[in-house]
Amino acid sequence: MNHFLDIHKTDATALRGMIDQAAAMKTARQGRPKGTPDDDQPLAGHMVALIFEKPSTRTRVSFDVGVRQMGGQTMVLSGQDMQLGHGETIADTARVLSCYVDMIMIRTFDESVLLEMADYADVPVINGLTDRSHPCQIMADILTFEEHRGPIKGKKVVWTGDGNNVCASFLHAAGQFGFDVTFSGPEQLDPEEEFVGLARKAGVSVTIERDPIKAVQGADLVVADTWVSMHDSQSSKERRHNMLRSYQVNDALMAHAKPDALFMHCLPAHREEEVTSAVMDGPQSVIFDEAENRLHAQKAVMRYCLGV
Ligand code: CP
Ligand code: NVA
Repeated sequence: MNHFLDIHKTDATALRGMIDQAAAMKTARQGRPKGTPDDDQPLAGHMVALIFEKPSTRTRVSFDVGVRQMGGQTMVLSGQDMQLGHGETIADTARVLSCYVDMIMIRTFDESVLLEMADYADVPVINGLTDRSHPCQIMADILTFEEHRGPIKGKKVVWTGDGNNVCASFLHAAGQFGFDVTFSGPEQLDPEEEFVGLARKAGVSVTIERDPIKAVQGADLVVADTWVSMHDSQSSKERRHNMLRSYQVNDALMAHAKPDALFMHCLPAHREEEVTSAVMDGPQSVIFDEAENRLHAQKAVMRYCLGV
C-alpha cells in the first residue's frame, strides 16, 4: 500500500513509472467514448472515496471518471456533509472510512488534515490539493510537457506570480524529474524556502528572478496560476493583484521565452488577470491537454497506490 501525498515523498523511479503508464493507458484509449471501460480493469471491486473540503471541477470529475474506466466505484463526499465538517476527528474519520473503502482521495485546506488522514487510514490516501501542494496536477503537467516536447529532464520551467501550492509541487517535481525552475514574482509571495532548498539539494537549479522578462529568457515552459487561491482571504485580493499585476503572462512576455516554449495553467484561470486570453487560447498553450491529462496521470497514481 502506497500513499500519494507529495511528489518529493514518492520514489523517483515509481514517479517515472506512473508517467509512462499514464501515457500508455492514454494511447490505449484513443478514439474511445469516455464512458467505455479500459481493457484492463485493475480497480474492479474497489471502492474509492473522493472527499472535497474545497470546490473542484477537474479533480472531482477526472478522479471519478478514472476510477470508473478502471472498473472501480466512487463516492464523492463533501467535507461539510460529513461529520468531519462538524467536529468528528480526522483520525476517527480515517479509521471508519477504511472499513468501507479501498482508497481515499482528499482535497482539503491545512496539510495536517491530509497527513493525519494518511497516518490513521488503513488504505492509501491521495492528496487532491492542500493549501501547500497539488501533486496530481504536476503529474499531469509532466505528462503534458513530455507529450509535446519529450523528456522534461534538463528543461527550464518558469513559474510566474504567486509561489503557491501548485508552484510548490513543481519544486517538488524538479528534484525528482531533474528540471530547473525559475520563480518570478514579488518577494512577499516567494515559494517556501524549504521547497526551494529541497530542489537545490536534489541537484537542480532554482533561480529567483524578480524581473519577469529576464526570468522567461530561455524558458521551455512558462506557467501561471490564479493570484488568489482558494485558501487566500478575499480581503487580500486587491493587495495581491497590485503586487502581481506586472507578472501577467501575455504575448509580450511570451515573446521573450524560447520560440517553442509551452504555456501551462492548472485552471481555473482568471482571464486577463494572471494570463491573457490571447496566450490561453494561443498556439503555445496546452491548458486543455493538462486538464485531460489529469485523468490519465491520476489513473496511474491510483494503480501505484493500490499496487494493481
Ligand atoms: N486544477 C484543478 O485542480 O482544478 P479543480 O480545482 O477544478 O479541481
Ligand atoms: N492555487 C489554486 C489552484 C487551484 C487548482 C488554489 O489553490 O486555489
